[in-house]
Amino acid sequence: MNLQDTSSQLILGIESSCDDTAAAVVRHHGGKDGQRRSVVLSSIVKGQDDSHAPFGGVVPEIAARAHASRLDQVTEEALSQAGVAAADLDLIAATGGPGLMGGVMSGLTFAKGLALASQLPLIPVNHLAGHALSVGLEQDVPFPYLLLLVSGGHTQLLMVEGVTQFRRLGTTIDDAAGEAFDKTAKLLGLEGPGGPAIQRLAKAGDPSKVSLPRPLWKRPGCDFSFSGLKTAVRQQVAAEMPLSPERQADIAAAFQKTAVAHLAVRTENAMCAALTQSPVHHLVAAGGVAANEALRDALRQLADRYDWQLIVPSLRYCTDNAAMIAHAGGLMQAEGMAPDQDALAFSPRARWPLDEKEDATTLGKGRKGRKV
Ligand code: KG4
Ligand code: ZN
Repeated sequence: MNLQDTSSQLILGIESSCDDTAAAVVRHHGGKDGQRRSVVLSSIVKGQDDSHAPFGGVVPEIAARAHASRLDQVTEEALSQAGVAAADLDLIAATGGPGLMGGVMSGLTFAKGLALASQLPLIPVNHLAGHALSVGLEQDVPFPYLLLLVSGGHTQLLMVEGVTQFRRLGTTIDDAAGEAFDKTAKLLGLEGPGGPAIQRLAKAGDPSKVSLPRPLWKRPGCDFSFSGLKTAVRQQVAAEMPLSPERQADIAAAFQKTAVAHLAVRTENAMCAALTQSPVHHLVAAGGVAANEALRDALRQLADRYDWQLIVPSLRYCTDNAAMIAHAGGLMQAEGMAPDQDALAFSPRARWPLDEKEDATTLGKGRKGRKV
């Protein structure tokens, strides 16, 4: 990579908004072409699946305690893997929300302590902005681009027009997509993280053998809904108990096919709406559910049909990580959003919509925090 090192910054990122404790070190550069890039020197992510598994979902108090006890070690690991000391850093970027309050508070308080002790500037970063800009960790994608953000806590379609300019085109009116995958996996009695378990099982199933309702079918717009689909799966499972392994696979396949078709149709509506307003030709998918192969295939076909380019970050940057927080912090600083003393007074936010204008409604709480 041909990087101009004039404004190189060594940035520590901290992420703790849900059930992953993460720290990363990136070197953030301005390139000769004006594009800004981050080279990831380390990215450590420690999950908490084992701690939450007995409860069938993320328990906020357990998550907060786990973050508090691991942040030290995860950060030390990130620094030592990057081969740098805290004294070498130029900036700390920490998730300031949205997410589970206890988790965000743990990470932000830790980052504030470190910033004070090392006399480093701190920049609080919106977790959703981290996801929205994460694609820049691996590729130069020009603004504006259309983003499908699909994770355990969020399902949104956003026009990303700049580092801090986001226009929300659609959001979920009930459950997040990842939440629907996780709940369906639970209904089918599958172990481990729900999304990958459904994806695995769906390969062995025949989706045409189970009829499930398509959410918001033939309705215009870019919003999403998953609760009706989840209820239909629950009723199907209840009617057929005990499920044979074949039926289990058929239901998983039908659920995945329906959920993916829903995500693709609403994305297509957003592409059509976006085209009337700006010359956009890039579709970016981010968040844990963007790891789903069937979804990637559907989005690729969609992008091909419209002659758009589909870009999906590598799995390690699709799911929660701190490199995306460090990268977003670097971009924000370069935009002149210089961190100052106020960052130390910044309070963690459970809710922090990217597009404040569109956020007139509060959509309730999901398993992994509030959905915005
Ligand atoms: O972005 P992420 O790591 O954390 C949140 O911010 O939520 O996303 C986690 C979500 C979970 O709901 C998980 O089941 C889902 O992403 N997921 C998948 C797949 N891998 C992870 N969903 C469908 N298919 C997958 N392969
Ligand atoms: Zn996330």
